[in-house]
Amino acid sequence: MASLRLLAGVLLILMSSAAVGIAGRPAGCQARCGDVDIPYPFGIGGGCFRSAGFEIACNTSNGGLVPTLAAANDTIQVQNLTVFPRPEVKVMLPVAYRCYNSGGNVTKQFYGDVELNNEGVYRISDERNMFVVIGCNTVAWNKHGDSEGKGLYTSLYYAGCVTYCSDSLSAKDGKCAGVGCCHVDIPPELTDNVVTFQQWPRGEQVDFSPCDYAFLIDKEEYQFQRSDLKMDLNRTMPVWLDWAIRDRDGNANSVASCPAPEVETRKNMPAGYACVSVNSKCVNSTNGPGYYCNCTKGYQGNPYDDDPNKGCKDIDECARPDEYPCYGVCRNTPGDYECRCHTGYQPSGDGPKKQECSSKFPFPARLAVGITLGLSFLIVVVLFTLMMLQKRKMNKYFKKNGGSVLQKVDNIMIFSKDEVKKILKNNSDIIGEGGFGKVYKGRLKDDTLVAVKTSIEVNEARKEDFTNEVIIQSQMMHNNIIKLLGCCLEVDVPMLVYEFAANGSLKDILHGDANRLVPLSLDLRLDIAVQSAEGLRYMHSSISHTIRHGDIKPANILLTDKFIAKISDFGTSKLLTADKEFTMVVAGSMGYIDPIFYMTGHLTQKSDVYSFGVVLLELISRKPTIYDKNYSLVIEFQKAYDRENSGRALFDKEIAIEEDVLILEEIGRLAMDCLKEKIEERPDMKEVAARLMMLLVATNSLRFSKSRLLVVYHEGPSAELAETKNLDNRLRPEASGEGREENHMGESHRAKAVARHYTGLARQGPRPRAARAETVRRKPRREGTGFAKYQTPP
Ligand SMILES: *[C@@H]1O[C@H](CO)[C@@H](O)[C@H](O)[C@H]1NC(C)=O
Ligand SMILES: *[C@@H]1O[C@H](CO)[C@@H](O)[C@H](O)[C@H]1NC(C)=O
Ligand SMILES: *[C@@H]1O[C@H](CO)[C@@H](O)[C@H](O)[C@H]1NC(C)=O
Ligand SMILES: *[C@@H]1O[C@H](CO)[C@@H](O)[C@H](O)[C@H]1NC(C)=O
Ligand SMILES: *[C@@H]1O[C@H](CO)[C@@H](O)[C@H](O)[C@H]1NC(C)=O
Ligand SMILES: *[C@@H]1O[C@H](CO)[C@@H](O)[C@H](O)[C@H]1NC(C)=O
Ligand SMILES: *[C@@H]1O[C@H](CO)[C@@H](O)[C@H](O)[C@H]1NC(C)=O
Repeated sequence: MASLRLLAGVLLILMSSAAVGIAGRPAGCQARCGDVDIPYPFGIGGGCFRSAGFEIACNTSNGGLVPTLAAANDTIQVQNLTVFPRPEVKVMLPVAYRCYNSGGNVTKQFYGDVELNNEGVYRISDERNMFVVIGCNTVAWNKHGDSEGKGLYTSLYYAGCVTYCSDSLSAKDGKCAGVGCCHVDIPPELTDNVVTFQQWPRGEQVDFSPCDYAFLIDKEEYQFQRSDLKMDLNRTMPVWLDWAIRDRDGNANSVASCPAPEVETRKNMPAGYACVSVNSKCVNSTNGPGYYCNCTKGYQGNPYDDDPNKGCKDIDECARPDEYPCYGVCRNTPGDYECRCHTGYQPSGDGPKKQECSSKFPFPARLAVGITLGLSFLIVVVLFTLMMLQKRKMNKYFKKNGGSVLQKVDNIMIFSKDEVKKILKNNSDIIGEGGFGKVYKGRLKDDTLVAVKTSIEVNEARKEDFTNEVIIQSQMMHNNIIKLLGCCLEVDVPMLVYEFAANGSLKDILHGDANRLVPLSLDLRLDIAVQSAEGLRYMHSSISHTIRHGDIKPANILLTDKFIAKISDFGTSKLLTADKEFTMVVAGSMGYIDPIFYMTGHLTQKSDVYSFGVVLLELISRKPTIYDKNYSLVIEFQKAYDRENSGRALFDKEIAIEEDVLILEEIGRLAMDCLKEKIEERPDMKEVAARLMMLLVATNSLRFSKSRLLVVYHEGPSAELAETKNLDNRLRPEASGEGREENHMGESHRAKAVARHYTGLARQGPRPRAARAETVRRKPRREGTGFAKYQTPP
C-alpha cells in the first residue's frame, strides 16, 4: 500500500519538476560531509543540488558530521556516494524484526519500512544486495510494485525465504542456507522496503532465538553468525542504491531517457540534460527508468559537471600500467594511449598492449651479437690497458735514462721506441759487437744509413754521467769524430744512433780478413793518421771539459765510404762501464793502454797520445800490437830505434819503397815520442796532428811534382798545374835558403827536405796558419780519393 502511494507521489513530482537544469554546482557549495564526498548532482543546501531527490542533509550526530538523504522521511545515513564510474549510493537501512515472549505472544515488531525515495531518484540495487531472514521458525518476505489488478496479489514482486533450527546449536557460523538464516536475491526496481513476517508457533527456542529478523544488505558485507539470532534491534545494514536522472525534461508523458544517438549532439540537447561535461555520454538506466551519465572511454571525472577541472578528463593511461598495460613504449593520447614495441622488437599476438613483444632477431643472432660486442669491448679494454702499461714503462725508462735532461739538448734527436724500430726494420744487420753492447745498421726516413748502438744498461748511479756524456758527444761537431745523431731512451737499454761508417774500422782494414785486405797506400794511411789525430786534437782542445777518449785503437777509428777517418766510441762506452772500467778497457784494448794509466789508474789526455802512438805503429807496419804470437809491436819498434835509430825492418813491405822510407821513419819517430814513458815528454795531440800534417804536405808535394809531369803529358798545362805551382810557391818562402838548393836536386829529394823542415817546425810549436788553412781547403778535394787515385796510371 505504502509503495503504491509512493509511486503515485513520485510520478506527480516528476511531472512537476520540469524546471531543473543547473549545469554543474555553483561555487561555494559544500562538497563534503564528514568523510563522504558529495559530488554534483548531489549537494547540501539550497541551489547546490540538481533536484529535490539529490539533496543531502549534513547534521551533527554523535559528535561527527553525518550525511543523510534529505528527501527521506526517516534518517537514512549515507556512507558512500559515487557518480563515476557507477551511479551509486551506499546507505544504512534498519532491520525489520518481530519478537516473542516465551508464551509465543509477540512483544514488539518493526516492518523495516523506509520511505527513502520520495523523489524517485533511487532504486535498491538488485545486483549488489540480497534479502536475509534470520530466525528459528520463520518465514519473511519483501514485496513491492503495483500489480494493477494483474495476478493474484496486489504487489508485483514477493521475495522471501524460510529458516528453521531444531535446537540452539544447529545454526552454524558462516552458513546462511536455511538453518537459522536464509537469503534470496531481490528483483530489480525496488524503490522502498517493507517486510512481512509469517507468524508461526514459538516454544522453547525463544531462549536462543527471541526474535525474527529480516533486512536488505550488501551481498559482500554479510556473514551469518549464530549470535545474530539475538542481534540488536536498532542495528542498520549497508545497502547499495542505484540512482539515475529520472525527471522528464518537461514532457509530462514520457519518462526521462537518453536521446536517440542521432539526436545526441551537444547543441540539440533537451533542457535539463544532465550529461554536460565534454567527453561524457548518456547511458539508459537498467534499474528503473531514466538515464545516467558516464565519461567516454579514456576519460574520468564527473560527467555531470561542465567545469573542465571537475568534468571528464583524459586519463594518463601510461601512469597506470596496472589498469592499462603496455609491454613497450607507452604514449598517452586524448582518450586513449599508444603502445609500441621497443626498437628491435615486433608486436606478437594481440599486440604490445596485451602481451610481450617478440624480438626481431632470433635468440641465437642476439646471442652472437651480444658475445661479439662483449668480446670486442673486452679486447679494446685489454689493448688499451696494455698500451697504457707500455707507455708508462717507456716513460719510466725515458726518465731513468735521463730523458728530461737530454730533451733540452738541441742538436740531438730523441727517437721514440717506434721510430727506432722503423730505423732498424729488422735487427738482423749486426755490424759490431762488444763489451758495450751491439751495433746495428739502420736506415733513417731519408735513407741515410746510420749505426744504432745498444748500450749497456744505465743504472741509477750512472744516469747523470751517461746524460753528460751524451750531451758532450752530441756537441762534438767535427768531421773526424763520429756524429751522434740521436738516442732512444724509452727502452730499458738506451740506444744511440750514430752516423754510419761504411768501410768499418781501421782494424778491419789493417788486420782484417786476409781475403778482404786491400792495398793501402802510404798516402791513405797518412790521411787516416792525420784525420784521426785531428779528431783527437779537437776532442782534447775544443770542449770546455777536459775530455779523454780512453780507448784509442784501430777498432775505434771508423772509415766512411770515402775513407774519412772518424774517431768513435769515446766517452759512452768508457763511461757506461765505469764500474768495471779496468776489466772492460783492459780486455778490449790490451796493447794500447798507457802503462802509466795502468799503474796509476789515472786517465789523462797523454794516455790517449800513447794509444795513438801504437795506432801509428800499426799504420806503418800493418801488424797488430802482438804479432807472430810473441812479439810486441811497441817493444820491437823501441828496440829497433834504440839499436839502429830506424824502424825500417818493421815497416810494411807494401809501402816501404825507397822514396817513402824517410816519411815512414818520421812517422815511426813521432810514434816513439808518443810512447815515451814519461808523460811530460810525450807530445800533445795538437803537436802530433801538426807533425803528421807536415808529413802529409811533404808527401803531397812529392807526389805533385811527380804527377805534374803526367798531367802535362796527358792533358797539357792546366789549372791543376797552376794550383800545384801556387802550392809550391806558398811552401817555398818558408823553405827559405834550403829550397833554392833543392831546385837542383831530384823531385823526391826536395820533397824529403821539405818534409824534414816541416817536421822540425812542428816539433817546435803549433803548425803555421797557412799550412792549416791549406789542410782545410784541400780536404774536400782529398775526400773520395783514397788509394785508388794514386794507383799507378796505365
Ligand atoms: C566509496 O566507494 C568507492 C568504491 O566502492 C570507494 O573507492 C570509496 O573509497 C568509497 N568512499 C567512502 C567515503 O567510503
Ligand atoms: C538537518 O540539517 C538540515 C540542514 O541541512 C536542517 O534543515 C534540519 O533541520 C536538520 N535536522 C535535524 C534533525 O537536525
Ligand atoms: C513522508 O513525507 C512525505 C513528505 O515529505 C509525506 O507526504 C508522506 O506522507 C510521509 N510518509 C510517511 C510514512 O510518514
Ligand atoms: C497471549 O495472548 C492471548 C490473547 O491475545 C492471551 O489470551 C494469552 O494469555 C497471552 N499469553 C501470554 C503468555 O501472555
Ligand atoms: C539501540 O537503542 C538502544 C535504546 O533503544 C540504545 O541503548 C543502544 O545503544 C542502541 N544501539 C545502537 C547500536 O545504536
Ligand atoms: C535510451 O532509451 C531511449 C528510449 O527507450 C532510446 O530512444 C535511446 O536510443 C536509448 N539510448 C541509448 C544510448 O541506449
Ligand atoms: C562508464 O564508462 C567506463 C569507461 O569509460 C566503463 O568502464 C564503465 O563500466 C561505465 N560505467 C557504467 C555504469 O556503464
